[in-house]
Amino acid sequence: MLKVGIIGCGSIFTMHATSTDHLPNAELVAVCDVKPDRADRAAEKYGVRAYYDYKEMIEKETLDVVHVCVPHYLHPIISRYALEHGVNVLCEKPMSIKLEDGEYNVRLAKERGLKYGIIFQCRFNNTSRLVKENLDNGTLGKVISARVTLTWCKPDSYYALSDWKGTWDKEGGGVVIDQAIHSLDLANWFINDTPVRVQAHLANRGHDIMEVDDTGEGFINYKGGATLSFWAMNNYGCDDPIEIRMLCENGKVVMSYDEATVTLNDGRVLTAKTGDDNLYYEGGKDYWGFQHIREIADFYDAVENDREPKISGEEALKIQKLICAIYDSGRNDKTVIL
Ligand SMILES: NC(=O)c1ccc[n+]([C@@H]2O[C@H](COP(=O)([O-])OP(=O)(O)OC[C@H]3O[C@@H](n4cnc5c(N)ncnc54)[C@H](O)[C@@H]3O)[C@@H](O)[C@H]2O)c1
Repeated sequence: MLKVGIIGCGSIFTMHATSTDHLPNAELVAVCDVKPDRADRAAEKYGVRAYYDYKEMIEKETLDVVHVCVPHYLHPIISRYALEHGVNVLCEKPMSIKLEDGEYNVRLAKERGLKYGIIFQCRFNNTSRLVKENLDNGTLGKVISARVTLTWCKPDSYYALSDWKGTWDKEGGGVVIDQAIHSLDLANWFINDTPVRVQAHLANRGHDIMEVDDTGEGFINYKGGATLSFWAMNNYGCDDPIEIRMLCENGKVVMSYDEATVTLNDGRVLTAKTGDDNLYYEGGKDYWGFQHIREIADFYDAVENDREPKISGEEALKIQKLICAIYDSGRNDKTVIL
C-alpha cells in the first residue's frame, strides 16, 4: 500500500481524497492545511492525522506520495521540498507560475529517481481519449487548425472568497492559467507539435476587485503548420459548454459539453460521451473533467511499477511553456517566438 498525504484541504481536496479512498493500492494517512479548521475537518472525515505545516508532515510521516493542492505560487516550492525529501509528487495544475521553476523540479525528480506528475485530468475523459486515439492511429490525419472557446462565469464574488485567486503573484494570471489551461492543454496535446509563435491579448473587462486577465485570446503557430486559436473569458453570465473544434486532414472534430464527435471525410461518425463510465462521487466536478481518479490511479501505478506517469512533469512542461508564452505575449504586447 502506498502511503499518501494531501497538502491543501480546499475545494479540490475532495477529488483527491475520495480518489485515494477508492483505489486499492493506496492509503491516505495524513492531510495538511495552514487553516487548522480545514485540516481538522478533512482529517476527521477520512480518519487520518492532521498537520498545519507541510514540512512537519513530510518529516514525520513516511510518505510514498504527496498530492499538492494549494495555491499556484506554492506548487513549485512544496513540490521541491517533497522531492528533496524523497517523496513522489502529484501536483495540481499548473506545475508553477514561472517556467524555470517547473523545469527545476523536472530535473530534480529525475536526479532523485522520483515520479513527478501534474494533474490534467481532462486528458482521461472518454471524449479526449476518442480524439487522441484517432489522431495517434492516423485515422484523422494531422490537425490543420484547432480552436478553443471558453465562456464561463467567475464574478467578483468568486474572487472575493479567495485569498489568492485574482492576483499576479499568487495565481499567476486569471482565466488563461486557471480555467482555459485544461482546454489549451488538450488542443496542444492533440496537435502534438512544437509551438513556434504566440500572439495573445489579455484584458480585465468585467472585474473590479481583481487584477488578472478575465479575457484572453490568441493565435499560435506550430512548427508543422498547424494553428491554434483561442478565446477564453470568465465574465459571461453562466458557465457555458467549452468547445474545442478541429479541422484535420481526414475529418473534423467537435468537442462540446460532454460529447465528442469525430466526423471523417469517408462518412464515418464516431462519438463518445465524457460521462459514460465515470465514477461520480461527492465533491465531483461536472462534465468538464471529473477524471481525477483515472489520473491518480495512473500515477500510483507508475510509482509502483517504476515507470513514468502519463502526465509527467516533463509532459506538463509543454503546456506550461505555452501558457508562459501567452502571458509574455499578452502582458508585454508582443509576438513571442519560441
Ligand atoms: N484540476 C482541476 O480541475 C482543478 C479544479 C479546481 C482547482 N484546481 C487546482 O487545485 C489547486 C487548489 O485549488 P482550490 O480551488 O482547492 O483552492 P482553495 O483556495 O480552495 O484551497 C487551497 C488550500 O490550500 C491551503 N494552503 C495554502 N497555503 C498552504 C500551505 N503552505 N500549506 C498547506 N496548505 C496551504 C489553503 O488554506 C486552502 O485550504 C489550484 O492549483 C487549482 O488550480 C484544479
